[in-house]
Amino acid sequence: MSREEQSGSESLRPSNETTHEHGERTFAVRVEPLGRTFEAPESLTVLEAAGFANLHLPRMCRNGTCRTCLCRLESGSVRYTVEWPGVSAEEKAEGYILPCVAVAQSDLVIDVPDAAEIPATPTPPVRRF
Ligand code: FES
Repeated sequence: MSREEQSGSESLRPSNETTHEHGERTFAVRVEPLGRTFEAPESLTVLEAAGFANLHLPRMCRNGTCRTCLCRLESGSVRYTVEWPGVSAEEKAEGYILPCVAVAQSDLVIDVPDAAEIPATPTPPVRRF
């Protein structure tokens, strides 16, 4: 068993990282086929980071059990925030991850056909007196 399997992480290919002034590592996540990229710091799951970047990824439970967010990791590596994410050994071997409980450990490319941009909320009009 490899070191990554022992630590519960998924890795398909190593990639770069960015370290911010406060020491937190941040990675670039590209979502295909949308072609959208956002930053994912280690303090957030991939799903949370996508939301902060106004990108909607399919989700329901957000705790790794319903599998609504299941998607394919094309490249990169993640670790999980829960001990037993709902992904079978076969799915893991095929590169499937659960972004709601996955934290980027490298730059990622994920395949999420149902990903969508979250429309910007219009700014309410300013009333002058
Ligand atoms: S949203 Fe339920 S497993 Fe990810």
